[in-house]
Amino acid sequence: MSKTRGCCRSFLHFLFDYETNKTLVITSLGVGCFFRLCQLVVLLYAVGYVLMVQKAYQQTDTVMSTITTKVKGFAFTNRSDMDPHFWDVADYVIPPQGGDSFFVLTNMVITPHQTQSRCLELPGPSATCVDDCDCIEGYNDPRGNGIRTGLCENYSTTAQTCEVLSWCPLEKDTNLPQHPLLAAAENFTVLIKNSVTYPKFNFHMRNILPHINSSYLKRCIFNRTTDPDCPIFRLKHIVSEAGEDFEDMAVKGGILGIIIDWSCDLDWWAGKCFPKYSFRRLDNKNPTNNVAPGYNFRFAKYFKTPDGEETRTLIKAYGIRFDILVFGTAGKFGIVPMIVSLGAGLSFLTLVPLVADVFMLTCARKRHLYNKHKVTYLNEDEDTEPMSMGSSYGTQ
Ligand SMILES: *[C@@H]1O[C@H](CO)[C@@H](O)[C@H](O)[C@H]1NC(C)=O
Ligand SMILES: *[C@@H]1O[C@H](CO)[C@@H](O)[C@H](O)[C@H]1NC(C)=O
Ligand SMILES: *[C@@H]1O[C@H](CO)[C@@H](O)[C@H](O)[C@H]1NC(C)=O
Ligand SMILES: *[C@@H]1O[C@H](CO)[C@@H](O)[C@H](O)[C@H]1NC(C)=O
Repeated sequence: MSKTRGCCRSFLHFLFDYETNKTLVITSLGVGCFFRLCQLVVLLYAVGYVLMVQKAYQQTDTVMSTITTKVKGFAFTNRSDMDPHFWDVADYVIPPQGGDSFFVLTNMVITPHQTQSRCLELPGPSATCVDDCDCIEGYNDPRGNGIRTGLCENYSTTAQTCEVLSWCPLEKDTNLPQHPLLAAAENFTVLIKNSVTYPKFNFHMRNILPHINSSYLKRCIFNRTTDPDCPIFRLKHIVSEAGEDFEDMAVKGGILGIIIDWSCDLDWWAGKCFPKYSFRRLDNKNPTNNVAPGYNFRFAKYFKTPDGEETRTLIKAYGIRFDILVFGTAGKFGIVPMIVSLGAGLSFLTLVPLVADVFMLTCARKRHLYNKHKVTYLNEDEDTEPMSMGSSYGTQ
């Protein structure tokens, strides 16, 4: 009976008693200094590094961008394998529209006057033959140049190849001119117009900055030291800043990245938001594995002869493709990210007493005294065994 009442009373105590921690004050300079040092480190990390250096008080947004480009320049060529030729933008920029990627033709293999007819395959491992039986009629080899007619004939005094139905004569692209046809392309310029938006902050900007007027735009050319804001670039400058030689790259072509970095701090106390340009070669130029280097593609121009026959001029175009890559993240002060990151950083302060306790109980000079007061061992068999493990451990 009394046992249940006692139990009930202790339950009421459990329910309605307020418990509070008893504080043990350690008047040791060493432990105190250690404690404050730990707090200082946490504060420096949370407020100094995370909040100020990493700008964790900002909310961020990524850039949205659109680009148009316009290439300008002329060239005149007089090469032995073709007639003297004047070149302007419509001839060498493919496609002409000018988006965030444009191609400037610098070298080419031209095969004029092709008609749909029969001719002999170029000698090669799959096209050589001994007699007609080697050339199955109608067979079409994707690596070849046309559909076989079933005949095997002398290509030269030493080689026999299969006859094919194709655009003849076939293109011979084995001896590419080692001096690029349009070496003058190094002096061409490109105007890049880039508009960006950070929708979250309702921020709009373009790379033709407000202080640029039209008379300046007509005569300027990008130069990191003298004209860093001019949006007109000389192609040779782009290539050389990417660490390449223009004439070298123009022979077999390649792909160059024009990188526009719009990373900005949009807080009113920060500076203005400007684009930063950098250039790098994007296609792999590996000197040890030089198989299939560069960049090229084929296109044709079609004509009709007076007697109604269709002919074409096939052009294998080598050139430099410029890809414009825009990236950026903008940050601006926000009360919510500020509170969240401050709280996350300061929560480390709750670990400091734990660390200080460990220091006090293991490294401090009077650790045995602190141990005795900090930890009280309960011993249920105190009556029968006065020298308990706990107290003897504490006073040793
Ligand atoms: C092909 O060449 C061989 C030897 O090279 C010669 O004997 C033969 O007559 C030639 N055929 C034709 C059709 O010219
Ligand atoms: C590019 O222009 C410079 C000076 O304007 C000239 O010296 C150079 O020969 C030109 N390059 C080509 C390939 O025409
Ligand atoms: C255009 O800007 C340049 C400086 O960038 C200045 O010298 C020139 O006077 C300006 N022209 C006009 C018409 O405002
Ligand atoms: C940039 O301008 C400076 C000073 O006029 C000149 O020395 C330098 O060659 C120019 N850089 C380029 C890449 O044109």
